[in-house]
Amino acid sequence: MPQRPDINRRILLAARPQGQPTARDFRLEEAAVPTPGEGQVLLRTLYLSLDPYMRNLMDEAGTSYAPGVRLGEPMVGGTVSRVVASQHPRWRVGELVLGQAGWQDYALSDGTDLTALGDIAPPSLALGGLGMPGFTAYVGLLDIGQPKPGETVVVGAATGAVGSVVGQIARLMGARVVGIAGGPDKCRYATEVLGFDACLDHREPALAARLAEACPGGIDVYFENVGGALFDAVLPQLNHHARVPVCGVIAQYNDAAPPPGPDRLPQVMATLLQRRIRMQGFIILDHYAGRFEAFRADMGRWLAEGHMTLREDRVDGLEHAPAAFIGLLQGRNFGKLVVQVAGD
Ligand SMILES: NC(=O)c1ccc[n+]([C@@H]2O[C@H](COP(=O)([O-])OP(=O)(O)OC[C@H]3O[C@@H](n4cnc5c(N)ncnc54)[C@H](OP(=O)(O)O)[C@@H]3O)[C@@H](O)[C@H]2O)c1
Repeated sequence: MPQRPDINRRILLAARPQGQPTARDFRLEEAAVPTPGEGQVLLRTLYLSLDPYMRNLMDEAGTSYAPGVRLGEPMVGGTVSRVVASQHPRWRVGELVLGQAGWQDYALSDGTDLTALGDIAPPSLALGGLGMPGFTAYVGLLDIGQPKPGETVVVGAATGAVGSVVGQIARLMGARVVGIAGGPDKCRYATEVLGFDACLDHREPALAARLAEACPGGIDVYFENVGGALFDAVLPQLNHHARVPVCGVIAQYNDAAPPPGPDRLPQVMATLLQRRIRMQGFIILDHYAGRFEAFRADMGRWLAEGHMTLREDRVDGLEHAPAAFIGLLQGRNFGKLVVQVAGD
């Protein structure tokens, strides 16, 4: 759809999804481009990040760290934007910023949620490997997972924004890395491009048996991105003193009710206890003050030295954001999912 510079296209939450979101849960609305008041800037969205946590924010309850999006309000999301008008002493027209403009062409900001972007190229990396997902991989793996040389690290959603970085950092730490991903193309990419030692397709049968074959010495670190069937396959294969950073459980985000079948909690508790396993959840927002600077320094170096491959799955056009987001929850993205909202 050709875009008019005087119109702000916004994608609103139209309905709360029952299970898997559908196109009907979103609505595209056209509004006037807002005018910044005193102390405000007008942002033009260039790139919009699409991330799994947005599914939780479509529910009324939201999450422990953010309220649910209200019906009729624009979907929230991290963005790279250009300042196109400013009534703010700190922000100049033309500056490139990281912010939270959400699923829309234009947004106002009072500047408190903005970070100046230096010369990151392409700027969308600030939403991926050099931003929140890369930082999540870094903190979860190094601070909680603490892989040692020779240990075996397993990670699910292995070619995604977080998982691909987890596996590459684990390799840099001298660990053996076994990824789990959806489909043969992703698995081939994990081993041939990302340098993982093995990658298993979770859509194929007998995942637990194939995992045992790929991890003959057991699993020392399981970076949990997925939950569900992946966790069930991993749990019996965790070694004594294994570490399990619990980053996300994307397989459960659409579940309205607990999964059918027997209650597995007693088995989980007994395994954690008897094998002295440390399992720790974390929310990356808690770690910016203490760890972001170290992350940017290490990640910048790894990239410059050619140790890190960051794949982006770029979708062209804001109007395609709902379909791309629905696809993210079905494994259709291949790499960090970003919407190019406008050319720069
Ligand atoms: N704790 C935090 O602060 C924090 C911060 C950022 C992200 N996260 C979490 O990290 C995880 C990865 O996020 P990401 O941004 O890197 O996303 P991503 O991996 O780029 O994309 C999501 C991937 O999850 C997999 N997936 C989706 N539904 C699935 C299902 N039902 N069963 C198995 N796999 C499924 C798919 O990969 P395959 O096709 O390979 O299965 C899909 O491509 C998510 O759980 C997210 O919530 C947590």
